[in-house]
Amino acid sequence: MRNKKIVNTMRSKVFKSDLPDQVETYIEDLLLSRDDVPAQVLAFHATQIMPKINVAPSQGKLLNLLVRMAGVKRVLEIGTLGGYSTVWMALGLPQDGHVTTIDFDERYVQIAHETFAMSGLADRISIRQGMAAEVLQQMVEEHQQGQLDTYDFIFIDADKENNPLYLEYCLQLSHSGTIIVADNVVRDGKLITETDKAPNIRGLRQYYQDLASNPALDSTAFQTVSTKGWDGLCITLVK
Ligand code: DHB
Ligand code: MG
Repeated sequence: MRNKKIVNTMRSKVFKSDLPDQVETYIEDLLLSRDDVPAQVLAFHATQIMPKINVAPSQGKLLNLLVRMAGVKRVLEIGTLGGYSTVWMALGLPQDGHVTTIDFDERYVQIAHETFAMSGLADRISIRQGMAAEVLQQMVEEHQQGQLDTYDFIFIDADKENNPLYLEYCLQLSHSGTIIVADNVVRDGKLITETDKAPNIRGLRQYYQDLASNPALDSTAFQTVSTKGWDGLCITLVK
Protein backbone atom coordinates (compact mmCIF):
# COMPACT_ATOMS: atom_id res chain seq x y z
CA MET A 1 0.00 0.00 0.00
CA ARG A 2 1.19 3.48 -0.78
CA ASN A 3 1.59 5.68 2.23
CA LYS A 4 -0.32 8.81 1.28
CA LYS A 5 1.00 10.70 4.31
CA ILE A 6 4.45 11.04 2.81
CA VAL A 7 4.69 14.47 1.28
CA ASN A 8 7.97 15.00 -0.48
CA THR A 9 7.59 18.62 -1.49
CA MET A 10 10.13 21.08 -2.75
CA ARG A 11 7.77 23.55 -4.34
CA SER A 12 9.08 26.11 -6.80
CA LYS A 13 9.87 29.53 -5.36
CA VAL A 14 8.74 31.07 -8.62
CA PHE A 15 5.57 29.07 -9.24
CA LYS A 16 3.69 29.56 -5.98
CA SER A 17 0.44 27.69 -6.60
CA ASP A 18 0.04 24.24 -5.02
CA LEU A 19 -1.97 23.09 -8.05
CA PRO A 20 1.06 21.25 -9.53
CA ASP A 21 1.25 19.26 -6.27
CA GLN A 22 -2.44 18.39 -6.55
CA VAL A 23 -2.00 17.35 -10.19
CA GLU A 24 1.02 15.27 -9.19
CA THR A 25 -1.07 13.47 -6.56
CA TYR A 26 -3.77 12.83 -9.16
CA ILE A 27 -1.20 11.33 -11.56
CA GLU A 28 0.43 9.24 -8.83
CA ASP A 29 -2.88 7.94 -7.50
CA LEU A 30 -4.07 6.77 -10.91
CA LEU A 31 -0.94 5.83 -12.84
CA LEU A 32 1.60 4.86 -10.16
CA SER A 33 -0.70 3.05 -7.75
CA ARG A 34 0.81 -0.37 -8.59
CA ASP A 35 4.40 0.78 -8.14
CA ASP A 36 4.74 -0.45 -4.57
CA VAL A 37 8.51 -0.84 -4.33
CA PRO A 38 9.38 2.82 -5.06
CA ALA A 39 6.64 3.89 -2.61
CA GLN A 40 8.20 1.69 0.09
CA VAL A 41 11.59 3.23 -0.68
CA LEU A 42 10.20 6.74 -0.18
CA ALA A 43 8.65 5.65 3.12
CA PHE A 44 12.06 4.36 4.25
CA HIS A 45 13.85 7.50 3.04
CA ALA A 46 11.41 9.68 5.01
CA THR A 47 12.92 8.13 8.16
CA GLN A 48 16.49 8.98 7.10
CA ILE A 49 18.46 12.19 7.35
CA MET A 50 18.94 13.07 3.73
CA PRO A 51 18.15 16.03 1.47
CA LYS A 52 14.75 15.60 -0.21
CA ILE A 53 16.14 16.05 -3.70
CA ASN A 54 15.22 12.69 -5.20
CA VAL A 55 13.33 12.72 -8.50
CA ALA A 56 9.53 12.98 -8.31
CA PRO A 57 7.70 9.62 -8.52
CA SER A 58 6.30 10.50 -11.96
CA GLN A 59 9.84 11.20 -13.15
CA GLY A 60 11.17 7.97 -11.66
CA LYS A 61 8.44 6.16 -13.56
CA LEU A 62 9.53 7.96 -16.74
CA LEU A 63 13.08 6.61 -16.25
CA ASN A 64 11.62 3.14 -15.66
CA LEU A 65 9.52 3.30 -18.85
CA LEU A 66 12.41 4.60 -20.96
CA VAL A 67 14.60 1.73 -19.75
CA ARG A 68 11.89 -0.78 -20.67
CA MET A 69 10.93 0.84 -23.99
CA ALA A 70 14.54 0.87 -25.19
CA GLY A 71 15.30 -2.68 -24.00
CA VAL A 72 18.13 -1.36 -21.84
CA LYS A 73 20.40 -3.87 -20.05
CA ARG A 74 23.21 -1.73 -18.70
CA VAL A 75 22.51 1.47 -16.76
CA LEU A 76 25.01 3.97 -15.36
CA GLU A 77 23.86 6.54 -12.82
CA ILE A 78 25.92 9.51 -11.62
CA GLY A 79 24.57 10.65 -8.23
CA THR A 80 22.92 7.90 -6.17
CA LEU A 81 21.73 9.78 -3.08
CA GLY A 82 19.44 7.22 -1.39
CA GLY A 83 18.97 5.21 -4.58
CA TYR A 84 15.34 6.13 -5.34
CA SER A 85 15.88 6.74 -9.07
CA THR A 86 18.26 3.75 -9.10
CA VAL A 87 15.41 1.51 -7.90
CA TRP A 88 13.03 2.82 -10.60
CA MET A 89 15.61 2.06 -13.30
CA ALA A 90 16.60 -1.33 -11.85
CA LEU A 91 12.92 -2.35 -11.78
CA GLY A 92 12.80 -1.76 -15.54
CA LEU A 93 15.65 -4.14 -16.31
CA PRO A 94 15.49 -7.77 -17.43
CA GLN A 95 16.95 -10.46 -15.12
CA ASP A 96 20.43 -10.09 -16.63
CA GLY A 97 20.35 -6.28 -16.51
CA HIS A 98 22.53 -4.20 -14.20
CA VAL A 99 22.81 -0.67 -12.78
CA THR A 100 26.11 0.86 -11.71
CA THR A 101 25.56 3.95 -9.58
CA ILE A 102 28.16 6.43 -8.32
CA ASP A 103 28.10 8.57 -5.17
CA PHE A 104 30.69 10.28 -3.04
CA ASP A 105 28.89 10.51 0.30
CA GLU A 106 29.41 7.51 2.62
CA ARG A 107 26.17 8.15 4.51
CA TYR A 108 24.09 8.14 1.34
CA VAL A 109 25.89 5.05 0.06
CA GLN A 110 24.94 3.27 3.30
CA ILE A 111 21.29 4.31 2.91
CA ALA A 112 21.41 3.22 -0.74
CA HIS A 113 22.74 -0.23 0.22
CA GLU A 114 19.85 -0.65 2.67
CA THR A 115 17.43 0.62 0.03
CA PHE A 116 18.55 -1.94 -2.56
CA ALA A 117 18.46 -4.78 -0.01
CA MET A 118 14.90 -3.94 1.09
CA SER A 119 13.83 -3.63 -2.56
CA GLY A 120 15.19 -7.10 -3.41
CA LEU A 121 17.40 -5.49 -6.06
CA ALA A 122 20.84 -5.74 -4.45
CA ASP A 123 22.07 -8.30 -7.01
CA ARG A 124 21.14 -6.00 -9.88
CA ILE A 125 22.86 -2.85 -8.59
CA SER A 126 26.52 -1.98 -7.83
CA ILE A 127 27.55 1.16 -6.03
CA ARG A 128 30.94 2.70 -6.83
CA GLN A 129 31.80 5.11 -4.07
CA GLY A 130 34.00 8.11 -4.85
CA MET A 131 34.17 11.47 -6.59
CA ALA A 132 32.21 10.92 -9.79
CA ALA A 133 34.92 12.41 -12.01
CA GLU A 134 37.54 10.06 -10.54
CA VAL A 135 35.30 6.99 -10.67
CA LEU A 136 34.36 7.76 -14.27
CA GLN A 137 38.00 8.23 -15.27
CA GLN A 138 38.73 4.83 -13.72
CA MET A 139 35.79 3.30 -15.58
CA VAL A 140 36.99 4.73 -18.89
CA GLU A 141 40.40 3.14 -18.25
CA GLU A 142 38.73 -0.19 -17.46
CA HIS A 143 36.73 0.13 -20.68
CA GLN A 144 39.88 0.88 -22.69
CA GLN A 145 41.51 -2.23 -21.21
CA GLY A 146 38.52 -4.30 -22.28
CA GLN A 147 37.34 -4.92 -18.72
CA LEU A 148 34.15 -2.87 -18.83
CA ASP A 149 31.40 -2.77 -21.43
CA THR A 150 29.59 0.39 -22.58
CA TYR A 151 26.22 1.48 -21.13
CA ASP A 152 22.84 1.61 -22.84
CA PHE A 153 21.32 4.23 -20.54
CA ILE A 154 22.99 6.92 -18.42
CA PHE A 155 21.30 9.15 -15.83
CA ILE A 156 23.29 12.23 -14.79
CA ASP A 157 22.00 13.63 -11.48
CA ALA A 158 24.97 14.77 -9.39
CA ASP A 159 26.59 18.21 -8.91
CA LYS A 160 25.50 20.23 -11.93
CA GLU A 161 28.81 22.13 -12.05
CA ASN A 162 30.56 19.07 -13.46
CA ASN A 163 27.89 18.03 -15.98
CA PRO A 164 30.13 18.90 -18.96
CA LEU A 165 32.94 16.73 -17.58
CA TYR A 166 30.53 13.89 -16.80
CA LEU A 167 29.20 14.10 -20.36
CA GLU A 168 32.73 13.74 -21.74
CA TYR A 169 33.36 10.58 -19.73
CA CYS A 170 29.87 9.23 -20.43
CA LEU A 171 30.42 9.55 -24.17
CA GLN A 172 33.49 7.34 -23.81
CA LEU A 173 31.29 4.78 -22.06
CA SER A 174 28.52 4.98 -24.69
CA HIS A 175 27.69 3.28 -27.97
CA SER A 176 25.47 4.30 -30.85
CA GLY A 177 21.97 4.18 -29.35
CA THR A 178 22.94 5.06 -25.77
CA ILE A 179 20.36 7.28 -24.07
CA ILE A 180 21.65 9.98 -21.71
CA VAL A 181 19.17 11.68 -19.36
CA ALA A 182 20.17 14.66 -17.20
CA ASP A 183 18.09 15.92 -14.28
CA ASN A 184 17.60 19.54 -13.12
CA VAL A 185 18.13 21.31 -16.40
CA VAL A 186 15.75 24.25 -15.75
CA ARG A 187 16.11 25.09 -12.04
CA ASP A 188 13.18 27.47 -11.55
CA GLY A 189 14.21 29.26 -14.74
CA LYS A 190 17.67 30.04 -13.35
CA LEU A 191 18.98 28.43 -16.53
CA ILE A 192 18.09 31.80 -18.12
CA THR A 193 17.97 34.30 -15.24
CA GLU A 194 21.02 33.49 -13.10
CA THR A 195 24.35 35.26 -13.64
CA ASP A 196 27.19 33.19 -15.03
CA LYS A 197 28.92 33.29 -11.62
CA ALA A 198 26.92 30.41 -10.15
CA PRO A 199 29.05 27.33 -10.94
CA ASN A 200 26.05 24.98 -11.13
CA ILE A 201 24.25 27.17 -13.67
CA ARG A 202 27.47 27.70 -15.61
CA GLY A 203 27.89 23.92 -15.74
CA LEU A 204 24.31 23.51 -16.87
CA ARG A 205 24.65 26.06 -19.69
CA GLN A 206 27.91 24.46 -20.82
CA TYR A 207 26.13 21.08 -20.84
CA TYR A 208 23.48 22.48 -23.24
CA GLN A 209 26.26 24.05 -25.38
CA ASP A 210 28.17 20.77 -25.54
CA LEU A 211 25.06 18.87 -26.58
CA ALA A 212 24.26 21.49 -29.21
CA SER A 213 27.75 21.53 -30.72
CA ASN A 214 28.28 17.76 -30.90
CA PRO A 215 26.97 16.37 -34.22
CA ALA A 216 26.97 12.84 -32.75
CA LEU A 217 24.27 13.81 -30.24
CA ASP A 218 20.59 14.58 -30.68
CA SER A 219 18.73 16.04 -27.69
CA THR A 220 15.68 17.67 -26.29
CA ALA A 221 14.84 19.09 -22.89
CA PHE A 222 11.44 19.57 -21.34
CA GLN A 223 10.21 21.56 -18.37
CA THR A 224 8.46 19.86 -15.47
CA VAL A 225 6.31 21.18 -12.65
CA SER A 226 5.98 18.62 -9.91
CA THR A 227 6.44 18.16 -6.19
CA LYS A 228 10.10 18.90 -6.98
CA GLY A 229 9.27 22.43 -8.11
CA TRP A 230 9.80 23.85 -11.60
CA ASP A 231 12.64 22.04 -13.28
CA GLY A 232 13.31 19.87 -16.29
CA LEU A 233 14.88 16.80 -17.84
CA CYS A 234 17.17 16.62 -20.84
CA ILE A 235 17.21 13.53 -23.05
CA THR A 236 20.01 12.77 -25.49
CA LEU A 237 20.45 10.01 -28.03
CA VAL A 238 23.99 9.08 -29.06
CA LYS A 239 23.72 8.70 -32.83
C1 DHB B 1 19.38 19.53 -6.06
C2 DHB B 1 19.93 18.46 -6.72
C3 DHB B 1 19.11 17.62 -7.44
O1 DHB B 1 19.61 16.57 -8.14
C4 DHB B 1 17.74 17.83 -7.50
O2 DHB B 1 16.99 16.97 -8.23
C5 DHB B 1 17.18 18.90 -6.84
C6 DHB B 1 18.01 19.75 -6.10
C7 DHB B 1 20.25 20.43 -5.28
O3 DHB B 1 21.45 20.14 -5.19
O4 DHB B 1 19.77 21.41 -4.78
MG1 MG C 1 18.19 15.75 -9.46
